[in-house]
Amino acid sequence: MASPLFRSASTQWASRSAATRAGLAPRIRTAMATARKIPASPALAWRPVLCYSSTSLFHTSASRGSADSVNALKTPPQITAETITVGGKTYNKDSTTNVTPTILEKTTRQLHLIPTHPIAIIKNLIASTFPDFKHYDQFSPVVTTKENFDDLCFAADHPGRAVTDTYYLNEKIMLRTHTSAHQLQVMKESDKILVTADVYRRDEIDASHYPVFHQMEGAQLFDAKTAVEDIRNLIAAGSSAATAAITTEDTTQITPENPKQECHEEAAMLAVADHLKYSLNLMIRKLFSHEKDLQVRWIDATFPFTSPSWEMEILYQGKWLEVLGCGVSRQDILNNAGKPGKIGWAFGLGLERLALVLFGIPDIRLFWSQDDRFLKQFEPSKIQKFKSFSKYPPCIKDIAFWTTPNFHENNFCEIVRDVAGDIAEDVQLIDEFTHPKTKKHSVCYRINYRSMDRNVTNIEINEIQEKLRQEVVDRMKVELR
Ligand code: DAH
Repeated sequence: MASPLFRSASTQWASRSAATRAGLAPRIRTAMATARKIPASPALAWRPVLCYSSTSLFHTSASRGSADSVNALKTPPQITAETITVGGKTYNKDSTTNVTPTILEKTTRQLHLIPTHPIAIIKNLIASTFPDFKHYDQFSPVVTTKENFDDLCFAADHPGRAVTDTYYLNEKIMLRTHTSAHQLQVMKESDKILVTADVYRRDEIDASHYPVFHQMEGAQLFDAKTAVEDIRNLIAAGSSAATAAITTEDTTQITPENPKQECHEEAAMLAVADHLKYSLNLMIRKLFSHEKDLQVRWIDATFPFTSPSWEMEILYQGKWLEVLGCGVSRQDILNNAGKPGKIGWAFGLGLERLALVLFGIPDIRLFWSQDDRFLKQFEPSKIQKFKSFSKYPPCIKDIAFWTTPNFHENNFCEIVRDVAGDIAEDVQLIDEFTHPKTKKHSVCYRINYRSMDRNVTNIEINEIQEKLRQEVVDRMKVELR
């Protein structure tokens, strides 16, 4: 199991779809679940012992993309009654539109392109382990539902498509939920690709969840006819010293639940799987080069766009931490990219999770801080331990209301983010009950307001809470208690 402290960057859809198939209600955190999930002080729970710096390990592979597209993204988005303009392009709104100004503002930040930002530092370190890969890191976050879902073989009723999980500009246009959305496009251009980008998912609020985070995608394709020999030669020529120091546990099996694709020769598929795991073992070894006895394990997984599929986990401070998802690419994707004679692997990983661990950053909101005490701490190409600055006191407020039948916690969290911005540190469901006679359902949420960089006053928070109470009634049509 992945550590419950972290958002499952690559598996949440697998687990959610299972829940949905089982007919479970939308995910609501109960007080009990929360108690298990969120440490009282994330700062304490996450403070890693890791600290190292090295420049020799790094080199930045050239990143592709157009400077024009980045400049267009830096222009503030605009929302009118009928349209949304992002990255210099205008889209019509419709009944599916659920993207908010707060979220759209994040598209201008492009943290992975700021060389002194921890997200960019990790990005460059990973890219340096794939030196001859073409690296795209300037794609607009606005994609079509075809690119994000259909092209990747997502079922029509896949829960990832739900408006409660995904930000839509309109029915057909959305903010990408993963970097895999660009796989087809870039596979047309190259057989060795990396994509780094900001990705967007509607979610709960706490120290490890934020509706925007960053992913890195990688893929490598081989000639299907010569893959076995080509890969044998590649691995023989590669560095075995680097992987020697990893203890790897691999109990994965090709089974009917995690099958070989019918169109693939078994030997070629196994060779691709070997090369995938070999390449990712090298990558993680380099990232954690300070950790003498790195323990890695491979487990079976499920993704719509790979088969077989796996996840890599590392043992970190006594807990297994999910690092990435990967697998043998669905042949349909390669065929649609105009490469029917190829076979290949792909992976996707969340950069925040690695940066939290490697830099010892206690709260995911810090990545978005504009405070110099955060931004000026880091240097390009160096991993160094985050020096915490004073934590300001929290201000806690509760809100209770009767829900409506279509109530979803993510809609409530969205309103909290809209009204309070990053001052909302944590939202927890602390009580819920169903009235025995009326069958009306009531919830009570506790909101922990705290700024990363200043003291918040009670008067200010009262105003925010009052605004929240009004917005909750207006937008969700619920009845306050
Ligand atoms: N896109 C997946 C996610 O965000 C991660 C992933 C899994 C990417 C497997 C891949 C892959 O390329 O092969 O959950």
